[in-house]
Amino acid sequence: MASHRPLIFPLIIICFLTVTFFYLEYNSLEDNSNALTSKKEPILFSSSDANNASQLNSTTFKKVSKQTPKKSTSRPKQYGPIPFREKMECDGYHEKKGISFQQLWNWPPVRVFIGIWTVADRFEIRNLIRTLNFKQKQSLILDKVDFKFILGIPPPDDYTPELKSLLTIENNTYGDLIMLDIEENMNNGKAYFYWKWVAGYTDTQYNYVVKADDDAFVHFQNLALNLRPLPREHLYYGLESPDHFIFGELEVLSVDHARMIASSPYNQTEWNGNEDRFLGYWLMNHANSTLIRIPENCLIFNDPRIKRRFCWRPWASPNSIVIHRLKEIPAWKSVIDLYFPD
Ligand SMILES: *[C@@H]1O[C@H](CO)[C@@H](O)[C@H](O)[C@H]1NC(C)=O
Ligand SMILES: *[C@@H]1O[C@H](CO)[C@@H](O)[C@H](O)[C@H]1NC(C)=O
Ligand SMILES: *[C@@H]1O[C@H](CO)[C@@H](O)[C@H](O)[C@H]1NC(C)=O
Ligand SMILES: *[C@@H]1O[C@H](CO)[C@@H](O)[C@H](O)[C@H]1NC(C)=O
Ligand SMILES: *[C@@H]1O[C@H](CO)[C@@H](O)[C@H](O)[C@H]1NC(C)=O
Repeated sequence: MASHRPLIFPLIIICFLTVTFFYLEYNSLEDNSNALTSKKEPILFSSSDANNASQLNSTTFKKVSKQTPKKSTSRPKQYGPIPFREKMECDGYHEKKGISFQQLWNWPPVRVFIGIWTVADRFEIRNLIRTLNFKQKQSLILDKVDFKFILGIPPPDDYTPELKSLLTIENNTYGDLIMLDIEENMNNGKAYFYWKWVAGYTDTQYNYVVKADDDAFVHFQNLALNLRPLPREHLYYGLESPDHFIFGELEVLSVDHARMIASSPYNQTEWNGNEDRFLGYWLMNHANSTLIRIPENCLIFNDPRIKRRFCWRPWASPNSIVIHRLKEIPAWKSVIDLYFPD
């Protein structure tokens, strides 16, 4: 026994450190993917682009802002510009295969639908994303990318007549709010109801259907370009976790997968957990033999200004697809300045 000690102790320590490391990383990721429902930060309407719906009545927001804000992470107090270089410090999926960014233009264009998950009271962020995405749509070359905001039904206590009327005004103006037939939640079935809705909505209009979070900047043209060479069926694409599911900030499915989900009955056990992880499980359980999972672990990443070890890149580039963890309006503003300076 004694002779094993010198070996066993360092091993135990290494195991412990590894477990701690992964625990911390996952916690931060999961914490992150829960941000939508758990995050109830004060919403300020000082910004000039706050929409008219938001000015109508502020009672709902005052109530929201009283709730405990999330424990703050290493977010900067002020957001400077995003570090930016011509080339990422890593290679994207296609680059690894010897296909340059320029060559992606040679493949036929794609049609993509993006459902941006949000919750009812986040008027200001929707307004910002909407403005940005209209610009993005107008500058697309050949590809088609559409988007809508995906909500659950607010819990009865929050769903005041005021909130209802604000949503009605917003939707009468923009027509881009989809309220799923399930009470608002992040990880307890919203995914099933979203994929089912999107399968019915898309018909044959789109090749790919996407779920994105409202704290993720999605570069429409770069997403479309990177999808161009990929299979139009059996696809499951995005930033892949070590457990082989695609992280929730951007999940891309070919439409056949959404149809598969839609044609299966709602089994609550299969969807009662982190929506991204459980989508992965669902596909592995129901479509494993045909599943084509393609990881893009370079061009989809977290805000370089928020130091994280995992899913973090030191700078963005003109080829970036997703910048995630944009938790505050100022954080978004500098992304917009970078990619859409006018
Ligand atoms: C909101 O404001 C925009 C421009 O400021 C205007 O075109 C639109 O009609 C307004 N919507 C409502 C519902 O008042
Ligand atoms: C705003 O909400 C308050 C409290 O619910 C209500 O008394 C008031 O009439 C509302 N104002 C408008 C403009 O809707
Ligand atoms: C918003 O408007 C669109 C287009 O008119 C409609 O299809 C959708 O059901 C509306 N959403 C809500 C939540 O009322
Ligand atoms: C629901 O899913 C669970 C876990 O995969 C499975 O054990 C169970 O049989 C399923 N229930 C139905 C009714 O299919
Ligand atoms: C799915 O397929 C992969 C190989 O392609 C295999 O390693 C894995 O165990 C399979 N998973 C399930 C749930 O069948």
